[in-house]
Amino acid sequence: MASTFKLLSLTLFLALVFKAYGECALSKIGVRQYKTSGYAHGMEVYKVNVTNNCECTQSQVQFNCTGFQTNLSVDPAIFSDDCLLIQGGPLYPSKSVIFYYAWNPKFTFTPISAQTSCS
Ligand SMILES: *[C@@H]1O[C@H](CO)[C@@H](O)[C@H](O)[C@H]1NC(C)=O
Ligand SMILES: *[C@@H]1O[C@H](CO)[C@@H](O)[C@H](O)[C@H]1NC(C)=O
Ligand SMILES: *[C@@H]1O[C@H](CO)[C@@H](O)[C@H](O)[C@H]1NC(C)=O
Repeated sequence: MASTFKLLSLTLFLALVFKAYGECALSKIGVRQYKTSGYAHGMEVYKVNVTNNCECTQSQVQFNCTGFQTNLSVDPAIFSDDCLLIQGGPLYPSKSVIFYYAWNPKFTFTPISAQTSCS
């Protein structure tokens, strides 16, 4: 019991510290992708939904671009060639952006950096 309470207190404390310092873990950038029924030049089209699951705004959201290829042109306003989200602009808390790409196999989008601002 006591140790559970300590763990909870510690978790709460860390949550407050992180909030105070305006940090969001990169794991708070949620990426879900779904195979659509579409094809582009023989490659399956995937819909990607990126959500900011942090309570702070995140900008300069950069994904690991190594190996990313697409046979469907991706809207650069949402996801550019260098795998930067919305041109480095802000993704507000709980907000999502959607883009489509086409490749086989699907690509695993891993966020590698972001800037957090808490108001
Ligand atoms: C994107 O994902 C979020 C969180 O799961 C969801 O709330 C939202 O409706 C999704 N948007 C679209 C267009 O699928
Ligand atoms: C990006 O992904 C590649 C291939 O999986 C990996 O070798 C590389 O270390 C990653 N880069 C970063 C900055 O995580
Ligand atoms: C598909 O993408 C590859 C890699 O970007 C490119 O070399 C190729 O020309 C593309 N093919 C078509 C039909 O778009």
